[in-house]
Amino acid sequence: MHKITHRFILRINSIAFFILLLFLTTGWAAEPATLNLMPVPKKIIPAQGKFRLNELFTISISGKPGQRLYKGANRMLKRLAGRTGFFFTHGHITPDQNTGTGDLQIVCQQKGKVDLGGDESYQLTVLSDGIKLTAGTDIGALRGLETFLQLLSVDDNGYYFPAIKIEDEPRFPWRGLLIDVGRHFMPVGVIKRNLDGMAAVKLNVLHLHLTEDQGFRVECKTFPKLHELGSDGFYYTQAQIREIISYAADRGIRVIPEFDIPGHATSWFVGYPELASAPGPYSIERGWGVKNPTFNPTLEKTYEFFDAFFKEMAQLFPDEYMHIGGDENNGKQWDANPQIQQFMKQHNIADNHALQSYFNKRILKILTKYGKKMVGWDEIFQPDMPVNIVIQSWRGKKAMVKAAQKGYRTILSNGYYIDLIQPTKSHYLNDPLPPDSPLTDKERKFILGGEATMWSEFVSPETVDSRIWPRTAAIAERLWSPGNVRDVQDMYRRLNVVSFHLEELGLLHEKNYPMMLRRLTNNQDIEPLKNLVDVLEPVKGYKRNQLRRHTSLSPLTRVVDAARPDAAVARNFRQLVAEYLKDGGKNSKQEKMIRERLVLWQENHADLREIIHNSPVLQEIESLSQDLSDCALIGLEALKLIATHRGKNRAWLKERMIIINRAKVPRGETECMVILAIEKLVKTAAN
Ligand code: ACM
Repeated sequence: MHKITHRFILRINSIAFFILLLFLTTGWAAEPATLNLMPVPKKIIPAQGKFRLNELFTISISGKPGQRLYKGANRMLKRLAGRTGFFFTHGHITPDQNTGTGDLQIVCQQKGKVDLGGDESYQLTVLSDGIKLTAGTDIGALRGLETFLQLLSVDDNGYYFPAIKIEDEPRFPWRGLLIDVGRHFMPVGVIKRNLDGMAAVKLNVLHLHLTEDQGFRVECKTFPKLHELGSDGFYYTQAQIREIISYAADRGIRVIPEFDIPGHATSWFVGYPELASAPGPYSIERGWGVKNPTFNPTLEKTYEFFDAFFKEMAQLFPDEYMHIGGDENNGKQWDANPQIQQFMKQHNIADNHALQSYFNKRILKILTKYGKKMVGWDEIFQPDMPVNIVIQSWRGKKAMVKAAQKGYRTILSNGYYIDLIQPTKSHYLNDPLPPDSPLTDKERKFILGGEATMWSEFVSPETVDSRIWPRTAAIAERLWSPGNVRDVQDMYRRLNVVSFHLEELGLLHEKNYPMMLRRLTNNQDIEPLKNLVDVLEPVKGYKRNQLRRHTSLSPLTRVVDAARPDAAVARNFRQLVAEYLKDGGKNSKQEKMIRERLVLWQENHADLREIIHNSPVLQEIESLSQDLSDCALIGLEALKLIATHRGKNRAWLKERMIIINRAKVPRGETECMVILAIEKLVKTAAN
């Protein structure tokens, strides 16, 4: 009984802790000019007054925007009802000939095209007696409706929209999210809910990485063995693809398909081994990494195949752009094939790069014939490729700059690899065109924007949202908002709000966390596990597969999968410690908050050990929980020393560093993200 009460108090304290921290770190008392808007609009002019929302709220649309905007406005109204609990009396959003009949008047002259560079601008004016949203196209109006919803505020008198004037348009025309459905298939529902999330933060390109060594994910009527033998049954029918494209178009989002060739292509060869550069048979790849199977670029039948293949896919996917991948062809099958070597000699093809360039040019001809423009990864940037191809830069910004200087349009993905579990901040500050960019004004226009990349080695339909969101909202802001919007604290403040609102779209990044912890505890109390996992993150970069060999059949239900990138509890603790130490350890309020956290972690292990006893899947993090507890104890010791200005000697420090260093070692492919902050406390105490 005593213990429960104690834990309850700790939990209340930890809520107070974060509210207080918000005040301390953001100066929240005065409302920031950015409100809760993400991405921040180009121009915000705050005004006096509030538009009060009640159940009589109405929307009118004038102009000839087409059905898409009516559907969008209805979706918005449903979300507004969902947030406020209002039973709106407004039955139908109707065309308005004269303008001026709705509380929210949408004025939009025409339907926009879902293509590169379309008009997405809008103006939004909120006055105390009415709201006006004006846009050149329905897509601009849809962007404005998302901003409108983000403006919803509360005070003692209820819900309102603050008086404001917003003029907005994107900085970059290509703002994308890549979802790799090749390595782990993502059912249509996953794609749809992520399209809703994308629309909420004004992203406008869904890049579907449809083919990989591990799977071929789209129905192909011309060559049915592609999806029949290359997918384990996990593929989109063409009807489903059309459904996805239509759902995306309703939200002003383009769908770019990627067929990754000539490498990353094992799954194609299960059904068509004769197109590979080495004899088969082939089976669907289960492991991760760069594999050898590669198309044979020297055979005419390869191009006959691709002609028929792209003819079909060009009809299925309406966007003008088609992605051919082109990355990480290791050339091993080419080197080992005498017929290919002979071909290269005959045609004066100097090396594998030149051979891939030959291949790309033949593919380009086919795409051009079917009305498509070619997009590919860095590797397709070869000296003799025409400048109408688009380069997607993943290996570094230098490659992007070089391509732009040579007149190629480019998309940046380097720095937006959300699969690598980097903190939001690092993606947020990664600007395709920073002030010190070496590009001239003319060359800058070649930078079309960027894409976050959700490579799927380590995500399932259950966890993918938690890797995409909320971090991708910060990337969306980088690509939409003016370059000088760079306040990291303010970004994190708004990200918190946006993340919470993304849930109403069915995204599972928050919702699945307690569910996964419940499964991990075997349906016991999740609180002790949550206390630990709140401060764990998956290991970064490409380390996970190095620590433990994974395949596409490995479970993605472990602690490392429940743990989230940029763990907020850990980040807030690190910041609190940094501020406390910067102040010279004088702030007793901060000290109290740090102490409460440390006490929680120190005591948590005993409770968690009980849980682990009945759930062996958790054994892999038992020692990490013990280490956190040990570190918390020496953190408490350090805190006391700092507060009482009593220094300690080297021997004291050395002993404690052994414990701290032990805690830094990853367990179950997770790392504890508060150990460095505790180390800072201990080192300060020792000085
Ligand atoms: C890539 O990450 N290989 C494009």
